[in-house]
Amino acid sequence: MEILSSFRISKTTIAILSLVLLFNIPYQASGHLLHRQKTIKYDLFASQIGGENTSNPYEPILKFLNSSKFPNRKSFPHGFLFGTGSSALQIEGASHEGGRGLGIWDDIVEQNKGPFLDADKFSSKIEHYKRYKEDVQHIKKLGVNSYRMSISWNRILPDGTLKGGINQEGINFYNNLINELLKNGIEPFVGIMHFDYPLALKQNYGGFLNRSIVKYYKDYSELLFKTYGDRVKHWTTINEVEFAALVQYMFNIENSSTDQTCTNTKICTQTYTLVHNFLLAHATTSKLYKKKFQAIQGGEIGLAITSGRYVPYSSNPEDVVAAQRLMDFYWGWILDPVFNGDYPRIMKEFVGNRLPKFTKKEKYMLKGSTNFIGINYYTSHFARHEPNRTKITADNYDALAVSEASNVEGKILGFKDQYGWSNVYPEGLYNFLIYIKEKYKNPKVYITENGIASSKISNPLKDGHRIAYVAAHLNATKAAINDGVNVQGYFLWAAFDTFEFQAGYSGNWGLYHIDFNDNLKRIPTDTAKWYKEYLTHDLRH
Ligand SMILES: *[C@@H]1O[C@H](CO)[C@@H](O)[C@H](O)[C@H]1NC(C)=O
Ligand SMILES: *[C@@H]1O[C@H](CO)[C@@H](O)[C@H](O)[C@H]1NC(C)=O
Ligand SMILES: *[C@@H]1O[C@H](CO)[C@@H](O)[C@H](O)[C@H]1NC(C)=O
Ligand SMILES: *[C@@H]1O[C@H](CO)[C@@H](O)[C@H](O)[C@H]1NC(C)=O
Ligand SMILES: *[C@@H]1O[C@H](CO)[C@@H](O)[C@H](O)[C@H]1NC(C)=O
Ligand SMILES: *[C@@H]1O[C@H](CO)[C@@H](O)[C@H](O)[C@H]1NC(C)=O
Repeated sequence: MEILSSFRISKTTIAILSLVLLFNIPYQASGHLLHRQKTIKYDLFASQIGGENTSNPYEPILKFLNSSKFPNRKSFPHGFLFGTGSSALQIEGASHEGGRGLGIWDDIVEQNKGPFLDADKFSSKIEHYKRYKEDVQHIKKLGVNSYRMSISWNRILPDGTLKGGINQEGINFYNNLINELLKNGIEPFVGIMHFDYPLALKQNYGGFLNRSIVKYYKDYSELLFKTYGDRVKHWTTINEVEFAALVQYMFNIENSSTDQTCTNTKICTQTYTLVHNFLLAHATTSKLYKKKFQAIQGGEIGLAITSGRYVPYSSNPEDVVAAQRLMDFYWGWILDPVFNGDYPRIMKEFVGNRLPKFTKKEKYMLKGSTNFIGINYYTSHFARHEPNRTKITADNYDALAVSEASNVEGKILGFKDQYGWSNVYPEGLYNFLIYIKEKYKNPKVYITENGIASSKISNPLKDGHRIAYVAAHLNATKAAINDGVNVQGYFLWAAFDTFEFQAGYSGNWGLYHIDFNDNLKRIPTDTAKWYKEYLTHDLRH
């Protein structure tokens, strides 16, 4: 009974969705905003759209979790990577030790202490740099076979360049960490750049706004392949390519007081320049890896994006098209170039000459430059047509579309989690995976991040909502695999409480909670115990 009432279906919503999702809607274009879109079948879970606010929305999932129908570990493909993850920037600490140079985020947090919670803990974090051996043991206890980590460019090359000198202590640290992981049966899944990069490159040359950074990025990557490539078989060039650019420029995290519009600031141009140079850095490095290292080392190289399924705000054709447009403005922005060699047509049209152009040679280099796509999935949104753009802080200013938490009827996607404070919509993950499969010819995919915060619970160790959240998303992942999507791994975010930018540590993202009052003690949460149980025992068969 609970199940029925918590996922009560709105007939109107279903009607809208069947129209939107199952058929091509032929309509007359009224103005240049309307383009006919090819629409794809991806509504396996459509009945869960419009879920309501109940006292325990997770109950159906928890019941299902205990049933024999829940996909166990063995039911995933052979060699599937089950892991967890973190990033150098968010856990290492030792910002001023071991010869590390400063990164751009050291500067951003230093300049904007106000909006960043726990700014005082930023330079020491959870001291992973010093406690990595202990941390590998914690990771091992989860029963995972892989760990997604990242390398700090400025720890390896303090000023970002080879000329400025290699920091041997930094080289040693990652050698030790990688060896420790392998010794414990855990495959490192390594990010070359996860948000941070050397401050000196930004201060001296304008960082990723300057195309010549591609050369420095390539030098740095080559050093990593040479040094660690004998042991590292999975490389990710850049994490959340589109989000890194939006956050830094269009959302203007560097200057939260801003209230400007694209018409009178250059940040709306810089966002596109940044992604352009990220993509060129990715493709150049990927080409180098494939040419010089891949045959000998036998690894793979890809990039990671954020993800989410945009669902039309209403049945109005303008909203239907807006949903497709946001898909292109977020994910097509990155995926079209790396699979097809160029930006989506709709972006060229809407952004005009602020969108940089690839040369013929660059297009050729970009096309097929990725062995896999890493998908970071948390939730999904509705998309509403919004021609009246004034503020730059919502979505992509140029998309003429904004994301909304509820649709025209006031319905939300999935249900609201009261503890982590976001909408839980595993169907969005399934739908996104099907979308990628159909649109980009079924590439290899890893779910490089998935998880939920525990920001609203008094005892962060009792994170039962996270168990249900993870279970529901594992189920959706398996459903996508059953329907032919080539998913090869799942990484639960995060291994430890991570510094989540402006939110500091308030989100309690870790499978291991960190007790800041007790010498940074790592304590397993209920989800850590459950994940271990799930991964190490085939309890349900
Ligand atoms: C859902 O419940 C929360 C907390 O009980 C409440 O604050 C919120 O307004 C409710 N939302 C809706 C759409 O009823
Ligand atoms: C699922 O099983 C666990 C024990 O394996 C039990 O503690 C829990 O209450 C069960 N949940 C439901 C919803 O039946
Ligand atoms: C871009 O970087 C190069 C060094 O690689 C430098 O010579 C040039 O001045 C930089 N351009 C800008 C605008 O900072
Ligand atoms: C931040 O934004 C304000 C208001 O738009 C502007 O006056 C100021 O110059 C900006 N500061 C930086 C460092 O960009
Ligand atoms: C567009 O925004 C302006 C300024 O915020 C407002 O005055 C106007 O009513 C808006 N127009 C529409 C159609 O929403
Ligand atoms: C689990 O996935 C199946 C599809 O494989 C879906 O039909 C079902 O609704 C999902 N269960 C839950 C509780 O999400």
